Amino acid sequence: MPGIVIVGTQWGDEAKGKITDLLAKDADCIVRYNGGANAGHTVVVEGKTYKFHLIPSGVLHGKRVYLGNGVVVDPEILLDELENLGREGFQPDLHISDRAHVVFSFHKLEDGLQERLKGSLRAGTTKRGIGPTYSDKAARFGIRIADLLDEETLKAKLDVLVDLKQKIINQVYGEDVKLDKKEILEEASRFGRAVSNYVCDVSAEINEALDKGETVIFEGAQGTLLDIDHGLYPYGTSSSTIAGGACIGAGVSPKRIDEIIGVMKAYTSRVGTGPLPTELKNSIGERIREVGKEYGTTTGRPRRVGWLDLVPVKYSIRLNSIDKLVITKLDVLSGLNPLKICIKYRCGNKIIDTMPADIRTFEKCEPIYEELEGWEANVNWERIVKGGYEALPEQAKEYIQRIEEHVKVPISIISVGPERRETIILDK
Ligand code: IMP
Repeated sequence: MPGIVIVGTQWGDEAKGKITDLLAKDADCIVRYNGGANAGHTVVVEGKTYKFHLIPSGVLHGKRVYLGNGVVVDPEILLDELENLGREGFQPDLHISDRAHVVFSFHKLEDGLQERLKGSLRAGTTKRGIGPTYSDKAARFGIRIADLLDEETLKAKLDVLVDLKQKIINQVYGEDVKLDKKEILEEASRFGRAVSNYVCDVSAEINEALDKGETVIFEGAQGTLLDIDHGLYPYGTSSSTIAGGACIGAGVSPKRIDEIIGVMKAYTSRVGTGPLPTELKNSIGERIREVGKEYGTTTGRPRRVGWLDLVPVKYSIRLNSIDKLVITKLDVLSGLNPLKICIKYRCGNKIIDTMPADIRTFEKCEPIYEELEGWEANVNWERIVKGGYEALPEQAKEYIQRIEEHVKVPISIISVGPERRETIILDK
């Protein structure tokens, strides 16, 4: 199965990092195709927690890891991650696309200023400069990794870009900040020198790997509902988070994708703003947040949580053509009774089962729930992992089966804890 995409089916934070790490064992390389350091992928191995914002999660298996052209690279964070991994004894076999765009400190500053201006329309961004960097890319002002390696091009491009940003910061936002062009140029050149050995044509290398029959995992960041086109605009991110983004962001044809795996949390969570129909603003929500440790990996913000909403999941299945689902954090629901699953929305006098495009309609959507019996709080997950699917509490099996019946896609992996080993793999 050479080309495999791992995609989030909700609002990100579905534990894709753990699943990528798990599947990376049997892969040859892992490539990130979208987003930047706004992502936070957590992998727990033998009690030790590793957090990545940029480097693909498969790095702990010593596999080749790639940052595709669709990624926006924050030099400071990348160098930090490389240093931390080095300290842990990992020497990542990292490859960075010469076409990936670079995040500068002025992008991060602009991110915050844009949010301030937007008021109630702000997305509650991670302030990692993601939106401004992708905007500059689209407007063709951006600086690519390849530019860092050529002093003359870099200087010419930064000259225009820094002047533009200076005007925006002072004249549009009225901020009294002076950008130091010389320092920005020097820092960019320094970063270019630090990563020059990793820079390559990622599309060429990934296509070659696929030609040789190697297994390539395309690791999606964020989730489908945050996608720039198909997410809840404007409350999403600025990249193509869906499976199709793998083709654009890594430079491969759709013909090269063989399997699409959707990762879904057993409930709903999101950070940032925007409507969330199944949100639980009560003690059940607090309990899920505490048990599930629902705090942003990147920002530390408490995540909003709610019952599992299958409307966005079904929408993701359609957009991504998902072959298999992975359900994560099933253990977090232990001891809650009854459990609820949202299967449709009531919107005024209409019943709908897909995501509306306009936010005002979506704000009016009320969840229609199906109730299921929960399972006891004190479950011995270690014993269950050893026993496999059959060892699950009957109510947990019923929860899985009802989801499968509604979404019509098999659940092939069940994750019941952050550790690699806390996983039940089903033969589907
Ligand atoms: P940005 O990507 O930092 O511009 O943030 C835009 C929106 O996407 C905000 O609501 C963020 O909270 C959300 N977001 C960005 N990255 C992630 C992620 O990795 N997980 C969950 N939410 C994210």
